[in-house]
Amino acid sequence: MREAGRIVAIVLQELAQRAIPGVVTEDLNDIGHEIITKKFKAIPSFLGYRGYPASVCISVNEEIVHGIPGPRHLKDGDIVSFDVGVIYQGYHGDAARTVGVGSIGDEARRLVEVTREALDAATAQATAGHRVGDISHSIQNYAESRGYSVVREYVGHGIGRKMHEDPQIPNFGEPGRRERLKPGMTMALEPMVNIGGWATAVLEDDWTVVTADGSLSAHFENTIAVTDGQAEILTKV
Ligand code: MF3
Ligand code: CO
Repeated sequence: MREAGRIVAIVLQELAQRAIPGVVTEDLNDIGHEIITKKFKAIPSFLGYRGYPASVCISVNEEIVHGIPGPRHLKDGDIVSFDVGVIYQGYHGDAARTVGVGSIGDEARRLVEVTREALDAATAQATAGHRVGDISHSIQNYAESRGYSVVREYVGHGIGRKMHEDPQIPNFGEPGRRERLKPGMTMALEPMVNIGGWATAVLEDDWTVVTADGSLSAHFENTIAVTDGQAEILTKV
C-alpha cells in the first residue's frame, strides 16, 4: 500500500503542475493514465469502476467529486480537484488534491486552504484508540467553525485489497462514536468542503457531483495507516 500510495501521490503532483490556464482536462487524464500504466505498471482503479469512463476524476469549481475529464479548458481563476486511485500488486491507493489555476481569488484560496487543513485535523485524530466519529467530527468542526459546510452524501472509506472497504468515514459526526481504530487499519480520509450549503446534485452525465447552490467546493484525500503512534500517510511522494 505504501508503493500504491506513492504512485498516486506522484501522479497528483504531476497533474497539479500541469493545471495551468488553457490546458484541456482530458489531456490531463491521459497524462495521468500514462504515468500509472506505463511508468509504474499499475492499474488505474477508477477506469471502468461502475462504468466510470476515465482514470482521473477532474472536478472544477462547483463540481465536488467524480467530474469526467473532457474537452473543457481550465481557465485562470478556476480551482480544480484531481482524484486518483491505483492498484499496485493487489493493493489500492486513493488520494485527491485541489489546486488553483493561474491566480485565484481570496475566497477560493481560503476554501482550498481550510479543506487541506481539515484533512490534517482528521489525520491527527486517526490514532489507535480513537473512533471513526472522532475523525468525522474533527472535519465537520474544522470546516463549519470557519463558515463552510461539509458534504454529507459522499464519505471516506476503509481501503486495502478493495478501493472501498468498511468502515465508512463521514465528514460529519459525533466524537466518541462508531468503530474504534486499531493499528494496521488503512483508510481513505476525504473532506469535501463547500462555501455554501452541503446539498449536492448529480449532472446529466450521471457522475459529476456538484453543489446544489453552485458554490465552490474543494476536496483533499489521503490514504493513511493507523499505527501505534501518529497515522502514516501512504499517499505521499
Ligand atoms: N476517491 C473516490 C472514492 O473514494 C474516487 C472514486 S471515483 C470512481 O470513491 F470513478 F471510481 F467512481
Ligand atoms: Co476515496
